[in-house]
Amino acid sequence: MNVLFVASEVAPFAKTGGLGDVAAALPRALAAQKRGHDVRIVMPMYGRIKGAEAAELVIREVSLELGSTRVVFSVHAAPLPGTTVPVYFVHCAGLYGRQGIYTTDHDEHLRFALLSWAALSICQRLGFRPDVVHANDWQTALLPLLLRSVFAWDRLFAQTRTVLTIHNIGHQGSFDARVLSDIGLAQSAHHFHQDQLREGRINFLLTGLLYANAITTVSPTYAREIQRPEHGVGLDAYLRERSSVLFGILNGIDEGEWSPETDEKIPHRYSVDDLSGKELNKQALLAAAGLPYVHEVPVIGIVSRLAWQKGFDLCFEVLPRLLARRSTQLVVLGTGEPQYEQLFSTLARRFPKQVAYLSAFSEPMAHLIEAGSDMFLMPSRYEPCGLNQMYSLRYGTPPIVHRTGGLADTVAPFDRSTARGNGFVFEHFDETGLTFALTQALKTWGSGTGADRATWQKLQANGMRSSFGWDERVAAYEMVYRMVAPGR
Ligand code: ADP
Ligand code: GLC
Repeated sequence: MNVLFVASEVAPFAKTGGLGDVAAALPRALAAQKRGHDVRIVMPMYGRIKGAEAAELVIREVSLELGSTRVVFSVHAAPLPGTTVPVYFVHCAGLYGRQGIYTTDHDEHLRFALLSWAALSICQRLGFRPDVVHANDWQTALLPLLLRSVFAWDRLFAQTRTVLTIHNIGHQGSFDARVLSDIGLAQSAHHFHQDQLREGRINFLLTGLLYANAITTVSPTYAREIQRPEHGVGLDAYLRERSSVLFGILNGIDEGEWSPETDEKIPHRYSVDDLSGKELNKQALLAAAGLPYVHEVPVIGIVSRLAWQKGFDLCFEVLPRLLARRSTQLVVLGTGEPQYEQLFSTLARRFPKQVAYLSAFSEPMAHLIEAGSDMFLMPSRYEPCGLNQMYSLRYGTPPIVHRTGGLADTVAPFDRSTARGNGFVFEHFDETGLTFALTQALKTWGSGTGADRATWQKLQANGMRSSFGWDERVAAYEMVYRMVAPGR
């Protein structure tokens, strides 16, 4: 099949979270030789793009009249590393040449509306006839509507069908309806949800949910959760209406990048059969974090965007209590909302031998924390899929998680009597829940030596032996593609 994959972030070029990982790994898996799909990716050329030095100019100048706005862009292309999949970068310095990937600037709607317009214009210029246009999150959710309205005249797209993947329903791209004239859709106003229009709003994600031929999200549990008011963030009713074409497909992880046996970013490689390298990574991690190393003291790792979604509100009360009572260490990597940054810097000041906080975005440090910690904490309020818990499982670093979304689908509570399970799970999102799971983890860790260590290694092995590769997942996406584009 010909697949046009459009996303606002694609690793390694630009990444703020898991979307960047998935938008690289899924196209890579789809394009694998044995599957033989022709996959092309479109993303913005942000001011800071990593590793695209070799990008070549492929389309010199495209000028689009988006109603009252005239936008000119060019297109550069570079292969997705390790593949021949072309990544087309939409170069429009006026809109994308800014510090961050996402902004709160007045023209955010235009930045991402352009991405969808540009993706289809690129197909026209190159004569690429997509069977499937695969959009991701609100930033690209206008694609299904554009194909049914402004681009509908073009025979090139006569057979094109659309799939929209929801990575996070918490972000919807809701704007004042007056922006319709800036994004070239004033004539298409009748396609937007009429109740919303009457209230003077448009919602990019909702528009995508109404017009995509199929909708997917990134875990089976999240697919059920977003159809209920508690997690649907106002869109649950629309999703229930479309439930016959809504599928939950668990994300995979890129095992080329995230395997302790081969990881080049960690100082010592190791495997389930020989964990000695993991202990050396623990020493290296603590040295890098400026904390003392004691074999028996468990290290809890955190690597996260510090956002409301991630549930750190529970930590304000629980972590200081735990750190004061138990000899435990905590290494945190992440940036985000000031109250959480402050929480971790305060903990680091108050418990200087136990807590280290690194306020940064650092891939090598993320790998070292996965490899060098003994346990990994993800108390997310909601988690569409989550990748870090799967990295943790592969690295023998049992995750402690709230039972929600993809966390519920990948982490099962460890039961000492049967030696089944791969982590620690709490049911109710409150302080008692988190304390319960942390206590379970520390109890299982016990003395950290002898028989306790043997039990712990069983727990580690349960996670390390699971497979989270993209191979099986990709077959599920192919099924969805075949369902919507039956011509193939
Ligand atoms: P989300 O996409 O909601 O942030 P995921 O668990 O799906 O959550 O993916 C997060 C990804 O971002 C992981 O690859 C993780 O390692 C990475 N990440 C998050 N924060 C940082 C950071 N401060 N430094 C390096 N990598 C980070
Ligand atoms: C979003 C979600 C995360 C998911 C990622 C990739 O950022 O928050 O749970 O793993 O997208 O699909």
